[in-house]
Amino acid sequence: MTTKYERVIERLREYRKYMVSRQRAAHIQRMEEDAVKLSEIHNLDLERILVAVCAHDLFRDVKGEKLLKIAKIWKIKVTQEEKSFPLLLHGKVASEFLKRHFDVKDQEILDAVAFHTSGMATDSRIVKALVVLDTLEHGRNFPGVDALRKCAKRSLDDGYKEVIKNKIKYALDNDFVVLLKSVETWNYMKGVFEDEIR
Ligand SMILES: [Fe+2]
Ligand SMILES: [Fe+2]
Repeated sequence: MTTKYERVIERLREYRKYMVSRQRAAHIQRMEEDAVKLSEIHNLDLERILVAVCAHDLFRDVKGEKLLKIAKIWKIKVTQEEKSFPLLLHGKVASEFLKRHFDVKDQEILDAVAFHTSGMATDSRIVKALVVLDTLEHGRNFPGVDALRKCAKRSLDDGYKEVIKNKIKYALDNDFVVLLKSVETWNYMKGVFEDEIR
C-alpha cells in the first residue's frame, strides 16, 4: 500500500500498542484481517476502511469520566444516552481524534468511527463495512453470528441491515437501552428519511 493513508494507518497501529488492552488490540487486529476479505468481496476501498478500523476503538478503554472531559474540551455534542453511559462516547472521541491529530477530513471515515456502535442512517459503504466488521469479526461468537456473516458476504446492505436489527433485538432482549441512532438507522432502511423522523 503506498497511498494517501499508509502513514496514518501505521501510526494508528502504534497508538494501539499503548492505548488499548491486549484483548481490544486483538479484536482490532482481527477486524483488519476481515477487512481485507470483505473489501475483496464487495470491492471496497480497503485503505479507508483500515483507517476506520484502526481508529474506532482506540478510546474504548478510557474511563467514562475522562471521555466526558475530552468531549467537553473538544466541543463534542453529548446526547442524553451518552450522559447516562459515557463509554458510548468512545467512537465520537476517536473520530475527533482522527480529525485533530491525523488531519483526516474524509467524512465517511469520520462518521464510520463516530457511529460504529449505533450505526447511522446512511448509504456510505465505509460506515456499513465498519459496523459489519466490528460486529462480525471472526473472534465474535453469539447466537446467529454465522448467518449474519453469510448475509454480509452476499450483500453489504443486507448485512448492515441485519446487524442493526440484531443490535436492537439484543438490546430489547437484555432490557438494555436502545440507541436512538440505531432506531433511526433501521427506519432509514425502511424508507423513512432523517428529516421525516424528527
Ligand atoms: Fe467500539
Ligand atoms: Fe470494536
